[in-house]
Amino acid sequence: MSLAPRKRSRHSLPVGPTKDEVEVLKFPDIGLFLVVRKMGSSRRSFLTALARRKGFRVEEAYSERVTHVIAEHNSGAEVMQCLERQVEKREEGRSPMLLHISWFTECMAAREPVKIEPRHLLEVQMHSDVDVVVASLVPAYGCQRRTPLTNKNCIFTDALETLSKEASFCGSDGRSLAFIRAASVLRSLPSTLTTIEELNRLPGFGEHSKRVVQEILEDGFSAEVERVTQKEKYQTMKLFTNIFGVGMKTANRWYQEGLRSLGDLRNSQKLKLSKQQEAGLQHYEDLNMPVSRAEADLIAKMVEEVAHSFLPGTIITLAGGFRRGKLSGHDVDILITHAQEGREEGLLSKVIGQLQSQGLILYHDLKRNSYHDAFSPDSKSTSNMDHFERSFSIFRLKVASHIGDIGARDHSPESSKDWKAVRVDLVVTPISQYPYALLGWTGSKHFERELRRFSCNEKKMVLNSHALYDTVEQKILAATCEEDIFLYLGLEYMPPSDRNA
Ligand code: UTP
Ligand code: MN
Repeated sequence: MSLAPRKRSRHSLPVGPTKDEVEVLKFPDIGLFLVVRKMGSSRRSFLTALARRKGFRVEEAYSERVTHVIAEHNSGAEVMQCLERQVEKREEGRSPMLLHISWFTECMAAREPVKIEPRHLLEVQMHSDVDVVVASLVPAYGCQRRTPLTNKNCIFTDALETLSKEASFCGSDGRSLAFIRAASVLRSLPSTLTTIEELNRLPGFGEHSKRVVQEILEDGFSAEVERVTQKEKYQTMKLFTNIFGVGMKTANRWYQEGLRSLGDLRNSQKLKLSKQQEAGLQHYEDLNMPVSRAEADLIAKMVEEVAHSFLPGTIITLAGGFRRGKLSGHDVDILITHAQEGREEGLLSKVIGQLQSQGLILYHDLKRNSYHDAFSPDSKSTSNMDHFERSFSIFRLKVASHIGDIGARDHSPESSKDWKAVRVDLVVTPISQYPYALLGWTGSKHFERELRRFSCNEKKMVLNSHALYDTVEQKILAATCEEDIFLYLGLEYMPPSDRNA
């Protein structure tokens, strides 16, 4: 079927849409963006109308709603150039697929999205010698690579992350980490992987990860990953471990006992839930909705105001994914410190108490600090838990009600709810440990893991969220800022936005 604009004879078609031309959105998850450059605006309009008639969503402007970019007569590099000018409009770095018009044409013929084959992918690096340079320059440790939010290899990293999850659900932590390592390498690449040869030049790839990537390069998807996501155990474990307070062990025990759904947990008579799990289950839906940057800022501001009322000069910092530039997250990570060491002690319970009296706290669990008694910098403990005073909380955040929302017309209590439960971690740190706490709590989790592995293997130093300990010199290295820590480790400084390993 040819997609060139047909020259219609003057009387061949009625002016309005025919019955089967009426637009009904059939594939809401797919957002197409047609690159006008070299395609021309009239052909673009024609193709846009065609796709919409077949139930596809076509975006006029490039935005985070775009999942597939379609180009004609352009190289991938040219398309990237066009898009990069508009790239700040995208959320969370989920890169769209860059596809040749042939994929679009085949979808139109099939009246549905067809499987993406390697031949549909636009080659981003046009010269293979450039690929060689790019690939051989990828360092082995995640903390040595710049990893911005923009991920050009989602199609591969999503698959590897699914397998990582599956491995952890089976108790195979080593295998789980191997998949995370491979995904992290791909995440740091400036372009989409297109050939298996490029993959062979990358560090950190085991046989299994390679096989999965190769499968996707050849077939457009991984049959193994598809199978895993269909598994009842995978789905149930994912559901249960998404409950606040439920770890792998508990989720697995419940699965073994035959429990499968949140309803099963809620209705079970014999299940003993901790207070934390009760709260997690009660607010499951809210807590699994992304927290926006605006909501995170609002919470940080609330905490700051209350903290200042007790202790002027308190320093409040938004850490975690938001500090790395993410536009949404699963929780809000806040660090609390004061320029005069010791003044921060006792502050957290006052802050929580005050917020609680204002009805803003749905759940909280206060842990006192333990760095005076338990912290030993050269401990061999692999535990990721630190020793700061800390509150694991659920905030009750007021949200603007959705005026005019379709479906919100009934007056059930749920639909008129004007608040949202949000997970918040408040962490108190003495100023002398603050740079380490900030580095540790900014993440990503894998970046931190790699920093610690690098420190230990390459520098014989032990790094955690409290300090850096030089095991050769046998001394703790004091830092006044994050840059100091990178300097001690002989690493190039990475701004938070490049730590999305
Ligand atoms: P998060 O799990 O909150 O991840 O941990 P994130 O990157 O902010 O992503 P989302 O959007 O919330 O899912 C943030 C950082 O805090 C550290 C983690 O290692 C990570 O680097 N952290 C978290 C700790 O050090 N200790 C903890 O108990 C929890
Ligand atoms: Mn977080």
